[in-house]
Amino acid sequence: MQKNGSGETHLPIYLPQREQELLVRFREKAKEKNVDPNMMDMLVSMLMSAAKFAQMDILQRQTILDTGQIQEDVLKSNLLVLTSLVAKVYDEYDHASEGTHMECTRETELLRGLTELQKGGVAVNLGCANGTQVTEILSSGFQRVVGYDISPEMVACAKEKFPDNEFFVHDLDTGITLEDETVDLVVANFGAASEVCKDLWQETSRILRPGGRTYFSFYNQNALITRWWTPWSNSFCITINPHNDTIMVPVAG
Ligand SMILES: C[S@@+](CC[C@H](N)C(=O)[O-])C[C@H]1O[C@@H](n2cnc3c(N)ncnc32)[C@H](O)[C@@H]1O
Repeated sequence: MQKNGSGETHLPIYLPQREQELLVRFREKAKEKNVDPNMMDMLVSMLMSAAKFAQMDILQRQTILDTGQIQEDVLKSNLLVLTSLVAKVYDEYDHASEGTHMECTRETELLRGLTELQKGGVAVNLGCANGTQVTEILSSGFQRVVGYDISPEMVACAKEKFPDNEFFVHDLDTGITLEDETVDLVVANFGAASEVCKDLWQETSRILRPGGRTYFSFYNQNALITRWWTPWSNSFCITINPHNDTIMVPVAG
C-alpha cells in the first residue's frame, strides 16, 4: 500500500512524527482495552516497519532513511530529549523482545566474568544511563564504582536506585574527569561505546592502571538483532541509519 498520492507527489514513506503519534494513540487504545501497552508498541512498530519496506519495494527506493548528515548539537539535544522521556521506564528494555533480552543476558554474563577476573579498586561506567545492568555487578568486585551520563534524568534515576554508588551528569565528549592510571575497569556497554566519547580509546587508556581492562559494546547495523529494527518494550523502536551513523528512535512519551 502506498501513502497518499502517486509518482512524485506521494508522501514521504517515513514520517517520524506521524509514527510517534500512532504509537501514542495505540498505547492509549491498548490501555482502554486492558491490553499490555508494551506489547501494542511492539506490534505497531512491526507493522509500521513492514509497511515501510513494502512501500520501498513498490516505489523502488533503495532507502527511506535520511542520507544527510545531522549536526552534532542537534544530535545531542535529541539525545537529551530522548533520555528525559525514557529515563523512568528504561529498565523495561530487558523485558522486551527475546532478542533484546538475549542481548542483555549476554552482556551481563560477560561483565560478571570480567568483574570476577579483574576485581579491585575502581570501576567506571561510561554512559551509565540509570545504572541498571551494570552497577550491581561492578559493585560485587570493586570498592568504588563511578557512573557518568550526560542525561540529568538518567543520573537522577541511577542515584535513586543505587544510593551507595557515585553518579555524575557529565558530557564525556569533553573527556573523563579522572586522574591518569587510577582505574581498574572501564565499561561502556549496551551500545554506549558508539556514542559516549569522541576520544574514547585515548581517554580510556589514559585513566586505566597498567593491567587494567575495558569492556566496550557498539551498535552494529549488521547484527541480526538490529538488521531492520529493534523493538524495545519501553515504547521505542530503533532503526540504525548507516548513511549518517545515527540511530532513529520514535518515542511514545
Ligand atoms: C545506549 S545507552 C546505554 C546505557 C547503559 N550503558 C546500559 O547498559 O543500559 C547510552 C547512554 O549513553 C549516554 N550518553 C550518550 N552520549 C553521551 C555523552 N557524550 N556523555 C555522557 N553520556 C552520554 C546516554 O545518555 C545514554 O544513557
